Amino acid sequence: MNGKTGRYVTTTVAGESVQAFVPDALPPELPEGALDELRAPLQAAEAALAKLSLAGEMIPSLDWFIYAFVRKEALLSSEIEGTQATLVDVFSFEHAEQAGSSSVDDLEEVVNYVAAMNYALEQLHSKRGLPLSIRLLNRCHRRLMQGIRGAHKQPGRIRRSQNWIGGTRPGNAAFVPPPPQQVNDLLGDLERYIHSDDDLPPLLRIAAAHVQLETIHPYLDGNGRVGRMLIALLLEHWQLLASPLLYLSVYLKDRQADYYRHLERIRNEGSWQAWFDFFLAGVQAVATDATDRARLLHRQVSDDRRTLLASQGVTVSAMQLFENLPNHPVVTMPGVTRLLDVTKPTDGKAIDVLMDAGILFELGERRRDRLYSYRPYLDLLQ
Ligand SMILES: Nc1ncnc2c1ncn2[C@@H]1O[C@H](COP(=O)(O)OP(=O)(O)OP(=O)(O)O)[C@@H](O)[C@H]1O
Ligand SMILES: [Mg+2]
Repeated sequence: MNGKTGRYVTTTVAGESVQAFVPDALPPELPEGALDELRAPLQAAEAALAKLSLAGEMIPSLDWFIYAFVRKEALLSSEIEGTQATLVDVFSFEHAEQAGSSSVDDLEEVVNYVAAMNYALEQLHSKRGLPLSIRLLNRCHRRLMQGIRGAHKQPGRIRRSQNWIGGTRPGNAAFVPPPPQQVNDLLGDLERYIHSDDDLPPLLRIAAAHVQLETIHPYLDGNGRVGRMLIALLLEHWQLLASPLLYLSVYLKDRQADYYRHLERIRNEGSWQAWFDFFLAGVQAVATDATDRARLLHRQVSDDRRTLLASQGVTVSAMQLFENLPNHPVVTMPGVTRLLDVTKPTDGKAIDVLMDAGILFELGERRRDRLYSYRPYLDLLQ
């Protein structure tokens, strides 16, 4: 049996014979005229990315945005998998080791995602780091699956057994990815494609590479998250964006049924073009939203700084604490002591000043140490 972009092979799992799909190597085959039809959405997506790059360059504290956006992405990306945690709890877990009402396992998953993403970006940015490769993705996977929940999912390892998507067994699954013996070769092809010359516009190459990874489904779990990371990493790698500020999870999550349908239709109908349209619309929407949000966050911090400077009891340590908030939007008293390297009474004073200025707000009482959040900033991120 043949799909449109690969072939089905018969394989036996637990005595049952099933049809596993082996995708053709990229590049994707497009019908005549498809690229012409994709030109307008492609230009719109590229323009939105260029604006986001520019916004990133014009904003002095780019590291805040990267910091906040990576965490937001981690949260959303983990949510698709069913994890439920809140952004405030992510920050308070990271800075104050307090989980709030989110479960520690859920938070660990989010924190793992941040660690994996940051690890990959560091590797790509450092001269001696790993290039964008399957090895790099495996290492990301290892970080992603660290800890109790992922331990039996073979962190960092390509699968050696047949997996399936949907259904209770391969025989009634929605999709059976390629047999394990083929996975290494298929990944090798994908890696070669990423490093080969192809006339296809890079955004479309990214869209294709993501689908290919999902179709190969190389890991026992976490394929979606690694595949979404791959999108962000390729945007860096192909220099489509000056800093890592674009994440598609929110878009894919809001349209999960459509997203899955596209994956299926590519297999069975070869409909790359429809997927490209869908992907480009996502890039445009998410980039535009990120640009707006970066501007709003920047304006919020500038306004708050002005308010603080003009306020009555402003002190040097209150200012110092304020400048730390974009990277530590949830703090505790001991946390402030660490951040500012000052004595306790001074911290208390700094917190009070920021509360009086309407910048810090006390969070619910359910916690060990009292928590204070930079609420106006967090509200803009949500
Ligand atoms: N019918 C399908 N055909 C191909 N790929 C699919 C199909 N349905 C889902 N997928 C892909 O599989 C991913 C889920 O795989 P997996 O559970 O290994 O990843 P995850 O990171 O744990 O989950 P999630 O993506 O839901 O957060 C989806 O995100 C999607 O990319
Ligand atoms: Mg999963």
